[in-house]
Amino acid sequence: MDAMIKTEQNCGLSQEQLDAHWMPFTGNRDFKKDPRLITSAKGNYFIDGDNRQVFDGLSGMWTCGAGHCRDEISEAVSKQVSELDYSPAFQYGHPKAFQLAHRICDFMPEGLNRVFFTGSGSEAVDTALKIARAYWRKKGMGTKTRLIGRVKGYHGVNYGGMSVGGIAGNRALYGQGIDTDHLSHTLLPENAFSKGMPEKGAYLADDLENLVALHDASNIAAVIVEPLAGSAGVLPPPVGYLKRLREICDKHNMLLIFDEVITGFGRMGAKTGSEEFGVVPDIMTTAKQLTNGVIPMGAVISKQEIYDTFMEAGGPDYMLELPHGYTYSAHPVACAAGLASLDLLENDKLVERVKTMSPIFEEKLHSLKGVKYVADIRNYGLAGALTLESAPGEPALRPYLVAMSCWKKGFYVRYGGDTLQLGLPFTVEVEEIDLLINAMGDALGELA
Ligand SMILES: Cc1ncc(COP(=O)(O)O)c(C=O)c1O
Repeated sequence: MDAMIKTEQNCGLSQEQLDAHWMPFTGNRDFKKDPRLITSAKGNYFIDGDNRQVFDGLSGMWTCGAGHCRDEISEAVSKQVSELDYSPAFQYGHPKAFQLAHRICDFMPEGLNRVFFTGSGSEAVDTALKIARAYWRKKGMGTKTRLIGRVKGYHGVNYGGMSVGGIAGNRALYGQGIDTDHLSHTLLPENAFSKGMPEKGAYLADDLENLVALHDASNIAAVIVEPLAGSAGVLPPPVGYLKRLREICDKHNMLLIFDEVITGFGRMGAKTGSEEFGVVPDIMTTAKQLTNGVIPMGAVISKQEIYDTFMEAGGPDYMLELPHGYTYSAHPVACAAGLASLDLLENDKLVERVKTMSPIFEEKLHSLKGVKYVADIRNYGLAGALTLESAPGEPALRPYLVAMSCWKKGFYVRYGGDTLQLGLPFTVEVEEIDLLINAMGDALGELA
C-alpha cells in the first residue's frame, strides 16, 4: 500500500495517485514531495488543501480576471450542459457560436470581425499561422510562407507556436520546428525600471526590414508578436515599436498577427492590447480571459478581407474554404461561458476598473525597487513582473524560492526563468495589492 504523505495537506491523495499525474510545466519531483493543492476558489482567492485562503496574484493563469466562481458564469454553464452538451463542430452549428462570435467583435478594434474558434491559446496561434499561409496561397502568392516571430516570444506549445516563439530551450529539447525567423526582443537594459511603456526601443522594429532584405517579402507570410510579451516576464512594447512594425508590414504586404492570449479582454485596461497601444493587426489570437478561464477556449479574429479571400477562392459553395478546425471548436459550453464572461466584463465595468487600479498597482510594485536582488521591474495594466539577479549558475532558483515563500504566506505568484510575474484580478482591492507586494518584499528579504 502506498504511504499517505502529509495526509491533511494532500487531501488524502496517495503517493501513487500523485505520481500518476504527469503535471505540465511543473517540477514534478519537487511538487510531489510537498504538493500545493487547490480545492476551491471564490472571488480573488483560492482555498488550499489545508483550508487556507490564498490570494490569486495571477488570476489563475491570466484567465480569471473577473474573479473565481462567478455565479453568472456558473449558471450559464450548468444550464448549457443540461440543454446542449455537445454539438458537432463541422458542417453544423449551434446558435451560441454565432452569438459569441458577434459579441467578441464588440471587443475588437474596427475591421476585425471574423471569428474562428479553437480550444486553447496554442491552437489559436497555430490556426492563425495556417490562415496566414493559406491566405497568400489563395491570393495566388504561394511563395509567401515564411513566418517571423520574436526572441523571448511565447506563442504556446504546439509546433507552429513553438517555432515562431523565442524560448531558446525549446529547440534544445524538441528540435527544430517549422522554418521561421525572429526579431530581437525588446528587453533593453537602459529601460530597466520603466513604468508602463519604455521610452527606448522603437528602432528594434527595424529588424523586420533586415529580415525582409534577407528573405524578400515575396517569401514572408506574416509577423507574429505579443503586443505585451507576457510569459517572458511582462515586456510592454517600447513607445512607437508596434506602430513601426505595422508600417513595415504594410509597406511589404505582410500580415501582422497580434497574439493577445494574455492581453485580450481587459488586462491592459482596454478591450485589447491593440486598442490600448493604438495599432490594429490583421489577425488576433485570444483565449484565457474569453471564458474567464472556466471552460477552455481560444478564438482567432481576422479582418474581413482575409475571410472574404477564402470565400471567393472556395470553389463550389458546398466545398470547405478552410480545411481546419477542432472537435471542440465553438464547444457549446465554452460559448455559454464566453457569453456570460463578456457580459460580466461589460456589466461590472471591469475593463475600466483595470484602468483605475493600474496606477495604484504600478506605484506599489515599483516600491520594490532597491530591494535585494531586484534587477528590474516592469508593468502595464494589471500585469507586472520583477527580474531577479541570478544565483550563481541557477537563474531560476531565486524566483522559485520567492514564489514558494509567498505561497506559504498566502499569496500565489508565478515564477518562470529569472522572473516573478503578477496578473492581478480585475476585481482586486487596494489593500490586497498592498498585502501582496509586502509579502513579496518579505519573501525577497528571506533570500540568502
Ligand atoms: C501569448 C500567448 N500565446 C499563447 C499561449 C498558449 O495558450 P494555451 O496555454 O491556452 O495553449 C499563451 C499562454 O500563456 C500565451 O501567453
